[in-house]
Amino acid sequence: MSLTINAEQLSRELETLASFSDAPAPAVTRVVFSETDRRARAYVKELCKNAGLSLREDPVGNTFARWTGADPALPTVGTGSHIDAIPNAGRYDGTVGVLGGLEAIRALRRSGFRPRRSIELVLFTSEEPTRFGIGCLGSRLLSATLSTIKSASLKDKEGKSLDEWRSAAGFRGPLESVALSRGSYAAFVELHIEQGPLLERHGTALGVVTAIAAPASLRIWVEGEGGHAGAVLMPDRHDALCASAEIVLAVETAAKGTGSIDTVATTGICDVFPGAINSIPVRVRLEIDVRDIDEARRDCVLSQIDSTCKEIAERRGVTIRKEMINADPPAQSDPGIVEALERGAAKHNLSSERMVSRAYHDSLFMARIAPVAMLFIPCRGGFSHRPDEYASPEAISSGALVLAEALAELAG
Ligand code: GLV
Ligand code: MN
Ligand code: MN
Repeated sequence: MSLTINAEQLSRELETLASFSDAPAPAVTRVVFSETDRRARAYVKELCKNAGLSLREDPVGNTFARWTGADPALPTVGTGSHIDAIPNAGRYDGTVGVLGGLEAIRALRRSGFRPRRSIELVLFTSEEPTRFGIGCLGSRLLSATLSTIKSASLKDKEGKSLDEWRSAAGFRGPLESVALSRGSYAAFVELHIEQGPLLERHGTALGVVTAIAAPASLRIWVEGEGGHAGAVLMPDRHDALCASAEIVLAVETAAKGTGSIDTVATTGICDVFPGAINSIPVRVRLEIDVRDIDEARRDCVLSQIDSTCKEIAERRGVTIRKEMINADPPAQSDPGIVEALERGAAKHNLSSERMVSRAYHDSLFMARIAPVAMLFIPCRGGFSHRPDEYASPEAISSGALVLAEALAELAG
C-alpha cells in the first residue's frame, strides 16, 4: 500500500472552511448552530459525499461519514474532531482532525486499500463551550456522559435552549438516541494540532498522546450592592466586581500553589452587571476553567477556590453562589493504538514523541466507549485559540499520512 496525501487540496479545503467565519480573517469565529456553522457543516458534508462516504447525522448534529468495510458487522474504526471555533480563534483547531481525517480516508481509497472494518469520520457537535457553557457536548452525549435531562436544560446566554437551537439547525429526535454503546468503535483516533509548544521546541514531527488532562469548569455568581458611583461612600460598599477580582486572583494562586507545571486555571469570563462606568457593580458572573493531569490535585484546587470564596463573601458582605459545570476525570490512551501511530510515523521516517494533552478533546469522552489515542502535529509557537494559530501544510500532511497508516492497520 503506497499512500500519498494531497497536501495542496487539504490546504485549500482548510482555507475554504476558515472562510466560514463571523470574524474578519485571519480570525475565525464559528459558534455551534450559527448560520456560519451550518454553512461550514454543509461544506464538509459535500466533501464527504464527493469522497464516496455515506452520511448520517444524529439528533444533536454529530455527523458520521462512513466508508463501509468488507465486514460491516464488525465494530468501526473512527477518526474525526470538531469544526466549531471559539470567538476570535484560528483556523486549525479541530478542523485539521476533520479535514485531515477525510484526506487520510481519501488517501486510503486512492491507494486501493480495502478495509475489513468500516472507517468512519466523525464531526462532533460543539466541542467548544461557547454557546452552551459546556465543552464536548456531542461526545458527552455520544458516550452518555451527560444526562439528557441536563442537556435539555442547557441554554445560551440569551436563554435559547439546546432544543431550540438544534431544531433550527435541522437536528431533531430524542437526545437519548445519540448515545452509542461500548463496542460500536474498535478504535478512535483524533488528529489535532498540539496547542502547546513542545513539538516545535523539540523539533519533533509528531506527538502521540498517552493521556488527556482532567478538565473542570465552574460558574460563580457574586451578588453585592449596587448604587451611585459618586454618592456611595467607600466604607459602605459591597462591590461585586471587587470581590470577583479577589476570586480571579485566588484562582491563579491556587493553581500556582500546587507547584506542578501540569496545574492550570483560568477565569475566562467576567460578566459585570449593570456594566456602567458610574454604577457600582451589583452582580458578576465568572466562569473558571481548572485542569490537571492529576485529578486529585485538580480537585484540591477546586476546594481551595471554594474556601477562598467563602472567606471573601464573609469579609466583603457579598453573596457567592457556585455551580460546577463539569469535573471530568482524565483519559488514558490505548497502548495498541499508541503503538500503531508510532509504527506509522516510523514507516515514513517521521520523528515522534509521547506526550499528554493539556487541552481537552472529544477523545476524552470517546475513551469512555472505545479505545482511543490522539496524534498531535506542531503548531507555531504553540499558539491556539487565537487568530495567529498556524500549522504548516507539511505538518498537516504528515499528520494525515500517519493517521491513514494507523487507520489502515486498525481497520485490518
Ligand atoms: C478545547 O478547546 C479546550 O479548551 O481544551
Ligand atoms: Mn479549542
Ligand atoms: Mn480542538
